[in-house]
Order: sequence, then structure tokens, then C-alpha cells
Amino acid sequence: MRISVIGTGYLGATHAAGMAELGFEVLGVDNNPAKVAALAAGRVPFHEPDLPELLSKHVDDGRLRFGTSLAEAARFADVHFLCVGTPQGPTGAADLSQLYSALAGLVPHLTRNCLIVGKSTVPVGTAEALAEYVDALAPQGISVDLAWNPEFLREGHAVHDTLHPNRLVFGVTTPGAEWALRQVYSEAIAADTPVVITNLPTAELVKVSANAFLATKISFINAMAELCEITGADVTLLADALGHDDRIGRKFLGAGLGYGGGCLPKDVRALIARAGELGVGESVRFLDSVDAINLRRRERVIRETLDLLGGRTRPRVAVLGAAFKPLSDDVRDSPALEVAVRLHAAGVEVTVFDPEANRSASRIAPQLRYAPTATAALLGADVVLHLTEWREFRELDPTVLRSVARGRVIVDARNTLDPEPWQAAGWDFRALGRLVAPREEVGRVDPLLESA
Ligand code: UDX
Repeated sequence: MRISVIGTGYLGATHAAGMAELGFEVLGVDNNPAKVAALAAGRVPFHEPDLPELLSKHVDDGRLRFGTSLAEAARFADVHFLCVGTPQGPTGAADLSQLYSALAGLVPHLTRNCLIVGKSTVPVGTAEALAEYVDALAPQGISVDLAWNPEFLREGHAVHDTLHPNRLVFGVTTPGAEWALRQVYSEAIAADTPVVITNLPTAELVKVSANAFLATKISFINAMAELCEITGADVTLLADALGHDDRIGRKFLGAGLGYGGGCLPKDVRALIARAGELGVGESVRFLDSVDAINLRRRERVIRETLDLLGGRTRPRVAVLGAAFKPLSDDVRDSPALEVAVRLHAAGVEVTVFDPEANRSASRIAPQLRYAPTATAALLGADVVLHLTEWREFRELDPTVLRSVARGRVIVDARNTLDPEPWQAAGWDFRALGRLVAPREEVGRVDPLLESA
């Protein structure tokens, strides 16, 4: 069985390398020649742990090739994976044009029966429309099946998630499509990965609803953080306590600056838009609040920073983090970068440091300053903002940094720094929805109780 992967962005490049690792001969196709040239030379044009090694391994052993020709893919493969982008269009709905143009380039060139498998995230109903489109384009006598197999990989863990998925969802309309997908994923299936066989609309909905659920969980805890802030409660301890109930679970209850990236924000909005088109907008009305709570976190940090800067002339802010999350250089809809850009627009001199995303951030926000280290970013800063929770920021030495910055205020917008060393070094440590009084005060035993 030979495989083509159409669209070699984040998802496609990882999927192509993963399929080669599983032993298949793979052809990755993209209409961007620069991207293809980089991948063909074994270079990954974005930061993803373990992917460069996997990619070069299979480019070198000849199992993985890249090209720009869909006609070649049509001749080459038995299973074609569609991994093109479905970006958010102007109305919030997903823009499906890349899917249609990939099929228009592929299907007329098919020379044998095959399976086309959609992996891109799409609004429910898309696959059935695409299946009709494929039927209309398929050459005489060629049978083309279409299935949907959503991808759940997390940036920063993409290789692991591709090779060891936590579940497999096959939206199929024929036994042949199910059989082919079982061949492709035979290793994961043999390792007892749960498989859900379903129809096309369910498979499409699994992906967006999973992301909408995760976004809801994050916004829920961020709404609680707002309550914590005015009542003196501590959102991190609240989340710990909630998380001990395994019906709730602690994951995705990290309160802070909220979610961003290429998936959660877009998928929430696409689901709202699609439900509206289908006449059931009311059913997902709560997702408007999920989105609004999420965006309010950014406002909250911007407002607090401007308040802290007061009427300073030439105010300076150091921003730690630009990627939408650690282990990634992705700055798409990054809360950190948006805060930095908006502070700059408000007249603040902003210096950013991100261990991996300085370059990608500077491409879309060239107006900001970028420093080569966290310490350099703090030089002369009045306020320090911790906006992406890279591990190395937890290892900074607040005592050393006191003499580097001009002011001694840090806002931990990800609630992952330990306040104690910062406070001990004389910093005014602020967090979002979290109590930051010195520990001995927070955990102090009442002397009356102690003597009782
Ligand atoms: C997400 C889904 O997790 C993945 O299954 C899907 O395939 C693609 O979308 P990803 O975008 O890589 O993956 O990031 P994820 O780890 O889900 O984090 C999304 C955002 O939520 C990040 O900005 C992160 O900082 C934020 N987040 C996450 C929180 O604010 N709090 C949390 O507790 C968890």
C-alpha cells in the first residue's frame, strides 16, 4: 500500500513522516515549492520536537519523498490523505477552498481505484459534499472512496500523537474504506488503540467538538479565575480540588492567559458558524461566552500592565514567551504575541524573548524588539510579563534579574511560576486568579487553633 499526503504543513509533514515510520512508501505533495524543497532536504520549516530526526531518517532511506505534483500523487498512491489547511474565513466559517483545489488537481489524474481520506478539520457536512465532488471528477471506470479520519495531534507532541494516537476515528461509507484504514493503522490497532467506526458527519464532528470541549474547559476555569480574583480565592488550588474528581480531571484546567493556536480558537468559531448555518445556533450559544471569556484574559493582562506602568515616560515591558504554547514556535492566534503587540500599540516599548518563536513572531510583529535571552529582554524593563510557560522561565533566577530590570513587578499570566523565590528576591509578584501572599501567611495556622 502506497500513501500520498496532500498538504505538508504542520499536520501533513508530521503525518507523512509518521506513515513512513510505519513502513509505508510515502509521497508528500504541497503547492509551495519552498516548503517542498526544505522537506525534501530533510528540513522541517517549524519547531516540533523529534520531527526533524524522523523526517531525515525516512528521506534518507528513500521511503519518504516530497513533490509539487498532484498528478504524480494520483499515479503513485492507493490511499491519499488530505491534510491541507482550512483557515478561518471572514465570517468565522472555515475556508474550504484548499480542499476543493486539492481534489480538483488529484482526482482527474487517478488511474486506479483508491481511497481518499480527509484529515483536515472541517465543518460537519463537508465530507459528504466532497464525496459528490469526487464522484463528478473521477475518470470513467475508476472507483474512488472517501473517508474521514480526524487528527488529534497536539503541537509539541505531534510525533508521539501520530505514532501512538489515543483513539482512531474512521468515518466511512464502505467496508473497503474501513479495511484500508485498518491496514494503515494496523500497528496502533494491535496496540489496543480504541477505534470508533462511524459515518462521515460523526467523524467530522468529533474533531471540532473535542476542541470546543477543551476550549470550554479552559474558559470555565478562567471564568472561575475572575471570581477568585474578586473573592480572594485561589484558582490553582480550586482546579486541583476539582481535578481530584476523576469525572472532571485536572487536565485543561490551567487558568491564565487562555487558549490560542491554529486549532482551538478557529474550531470554536467554525462550530458556532456552522451551527448557525444549520439553524441550531442556539444550541452552541454558550461557545460565544467561551470565546469571549478567552479574549477577556488578554484584555485583563493588558489593562493590568498599563495600570502598573502608570504615567511612566518611555515605559518598558519585557515579555517572556511569544508562542501560543511551549514546545512550539507557532504564533498563530497567540495570546502572548497579541498582548505584546497591543501594548506596543499603546505606546509601550516591548521586548520579547521566546526560546523558539522569536523568528516566527518577528515575521508577523516586526515592530517589537526581540532579545536573544530572557535576561536581555528584562534589561531596563518596568514590568515583566510571563505569557508562555516554557520550562526555562521557571528556572530563571529572580535574584539575578532584580539588578537587570528597572522595575520589580512580574505578572505570571500562566500561573506556573513559583511566587516564593520572586517575592523573596523583592519582586511584586502578580498572578491571575491566584493568591500570591507569601506562603507562610497563606498556610499560617491560627495561633488560637494551635494552642487549643
Ligand atoms: C489542540 C488539541 O489539543 C489537539 O487535540 C488538536 O488536534 C489540535 O488542537 P494544540 O493546538 O496543539 O492542540 O494545543 P493544546 O495543547 O490543546 O493547547 C491549546 C491552547 O490552550 C494553548 O494556547 C494552551 O496554552 C492553552 N491551554 C491549555 C490553557 O490555557 N490551559 C490549559 O489548561 C491547557
